[in-house]
Amino acid sequence: MSKIFEALTRAEGEPASSLLPDLIGPDDTVAAAEQPLPATPVVVDAAPASAHPQAPPAAVPVPGAGLRLDKIRTLSLQVPQTAPVLPFDDTHWQASERYRIIRTKILQHPRKPRMIVVSSPGSGDGKSVTAINLAGALSLKTTSNVLLMDGDFRRATIHRQIGFSHTPGLAEVLEGTCALEDALVHTEQFPALYVLPAGDQRANPAELLDSPQWQSLTGRVRSAFEYVIVDSPPIAAVADYDLIMAACDGVVLVVRPDHTNRTLCFKALETLPKEKLLGVILNCESNWFLPGKDQYDSYYYRASKEFRSR
Ligand SMILES: Nc1ncnc2c1ncn2[C@@H]1O[C@H](COP(=O)(O)OP(=O)(O)OP(=O)(O)O)[C@@H](O)[C@H]1O
Ligand SMILES: [Mg+2]
Repeated sequence: MSKIFEALTRAEGEPASSLLPDLIGPDDTVAAAEQPLPATPVVVDAAPASAHPQAPPAAVPVPGAGLRLDKIRTLSLQVPQTAPVLPFDDTHWQASERYRIIRTKILQHPRKPRMIVVSSPGSGDGKSVTAINLAGALSLKTTSNVLLMDGDFRRATIHRQIGFSHTPGLAEVLEGTCALEDALVHTEQFPALYVLPAGDQRANPAELLDSPQWQSLTGRVRSAFEYVIVDSPPIAAVADYDLIMAACDGVVLVVRPDHTNRTLCFKALETLPKEKLLGVILNCESNWFLPGKDQYDSYYYRASKEFRSR
């Protein structure tokens, strides 16, 4: 784990080694982090399998929750030129492979998490990009359906990164002004992938999530989808995150070299219940040892064009 902490932005005047916690760091973790890829995530296990002896949380069946997924509208993804999302074609094999590795780690995780929140210590670490790519990768592997939910009402961006409208979405469903079936979108290019945008920005998002409607919604989506990936605000920034985390089986923590503040990262790790931390993703790592760096750097500017033309 020391590689991750060394890579993070230090708080002013901090000694380099004082913030290296021993919370994460089995031997295989370090090995994974030493094989970085530019602008591509590296996944780090939070703990060895033996650290999660308890049974996986069972999905609570919700009577009558049956969503008619065949009735959900289908839209074509329109990924903007600069959005580093859904790199699942032959051209972007390095990025694609990294997300597949993360997917495998989640599929094989001893706790069998099905509803997963993606968060990070601060803003701009790559939560939304990671949530989109993780959901995309899972939808390509599983035979069942995957839901990507934007739970960040304050800085919702998932809709923009994939070219959908932000509304109707989660906010309207929780308010009761829109049925879940009408807010969900089925993606044309990824047949197993569904999206629930954030909806209109609300003054008090925490109140929307601290409600029986949120409990009911999480039960329904657990019944209808094999995996639910939830984008969220930063850890400890607002109450919204805690309410989302409470409903999820686990947390994937995203950190970004030269961006994530070490102090915030340390605090996030302290705050996170250990049993909920599934792993850490080192996003945007730039020190790649294979040839083709230039080719890789241009990936993000070519991805969407090629993606749209598929
Ligand atoms: N792996 C990546 N490669 C290239 N650009 C990236 C990568 N990850 C994130 N970015 C870019 O960094 C910016 C922030 O990413 P993103 O929106 O995913 O972060 P965030 O943690 O969700 O931010 P916020 O806290 O505002 O919700 C975006 O412009 C995104 O396109
Ligand atoms: Mg975001």
